Amino acid sequence: MGRLGPLGPSVTRVTAAYAGRVAVLGIETSCDETAAAVVDGDFHVVSSVVESSIDQHRAFGGVVPELAGRAHVATIGPVVRRALEDAGLDAHDPDIEGIAVTSGPGLIGSLLVGLSAAKAFALAWSVPFVGVNHLEGHLFAPLLERVDLEWPLMTLLVSGGHSLIVLQAGPGHHTVLGETIDDAAGEAYDKVARWLGLGYPGGPEIDRLAQEGSPGGLALPVSMVGDDYDLSFSGLKTAVVRATQKHTDVPLADVAASFQSAVAEQLLRKLRRALEHHEVRGVALAGGVAANSALRAGVAELASDFGIECHLPTMAMCTDNAAMIAAAGLYRLRAVGPSPMDLAANPNWQLADVR
Ligand code: KG4
Ligand code: ZN
Repeated sequence: MGRLGPLGPSVTRVTAAYAGRVAVLGIETSCDETAAAVVDGDFHVVSSVVESSIDQHRAFGGVVPELAGRAHVATIGPVVRRALEDAGLDAHDPDIEGIAVTSGPGLIGSLLVGLSAAKAFALAWSVPFVGVNHLEGHLFAPLLERVDLEWPLMTLLVSGGHSLIVLQAGPGHHTVLGETIDDAAGEAYDKVARWLGLGYPGGPEIDRLAQEGSPGGLALPVSMVGDDYDLSFSGLKTAVVRATQKHTDVPLADVAASFQSAVAEQLLRKLRRALEHHEVRGVALAGGVAANSALRAGVAELASDFGIECHLPTMAMCTDNAAMIAAAGLYRLRAVGPSPMDLAANPNWQLADVR
């Protein structure tokens, strides 16, 4: 993987040898990443291109939907062409099995760019297309790095927009055990970082600072200790604000370490509970917050305690990409069939509603 010039400074690409089997083109534009990827019929990533507009949003401390939508319009064509060319496919008439595109959840203006492009390509190339739930896409990410993955799997899916504990009986068969009742874990990281005067996105900054601090430096509550799988981060965020207003002498690194420890503790407690009550072969992390060092270490420890496989995807697979959408789409195309041409974008599509 490397960073390249022509598409802009933020583009990342992955290219592998194409096994020459039927392939699916994936398209992802639900938030600030414009992404396209080719995955072959055996769930191998053949090419993956991700162009992010995050630099345009930094000054605002969060993704600005209008800017994200405009960036997708400018970038979708070159990104798709690059993904096809990297896969050794004819960008004008690729020999593919179908097109998979994120049709929800996400920002409506952003989703519509990818969905419209996917429909246009499907018509032009006479191939089927399928709308994919973005969260189901994240659930397919571990499979792309471990094709011999064994089910059932317990997955903690934590990103800037979502926090869920999902039991996966097999690919495409999932039960949401619990989810956040307010902010997502990544959202809490971003909001706390903003309060502390750190940059956006806040997760990597807090994670880095936390390595130098003491988790006992600031007394914070561990929220949601109840007998369920639901999560909540809004109270913790408020607690950080209150505690730092009261104890102004606590070093920033200690604040970061204390917050990080409280987030990880809540997530890991709930995940442990899920593992105690469901027999699974493995545990997986997914979503942007899966990059978090405390969470990765904690999940690895849980896997070892329960004697099960641990799946910690690489960063490229944790954050938004189109390979995971292509993988979910490949499964959906084969198991369920294509979507109708009048499929609408659904900005609030719940994972529990995916059939
Ligand atoms: O999945 P993602 O790339 O985008 C979506 O939200 O869909 O996740 C981005 C989120 C941001 O909130 C960011 O602060 C968080 O993931 N994040 C982290 C870390 N790296 C990224 N949170 C905690 N620790 C990290 N190392
Ligand atoms: Zn995502």
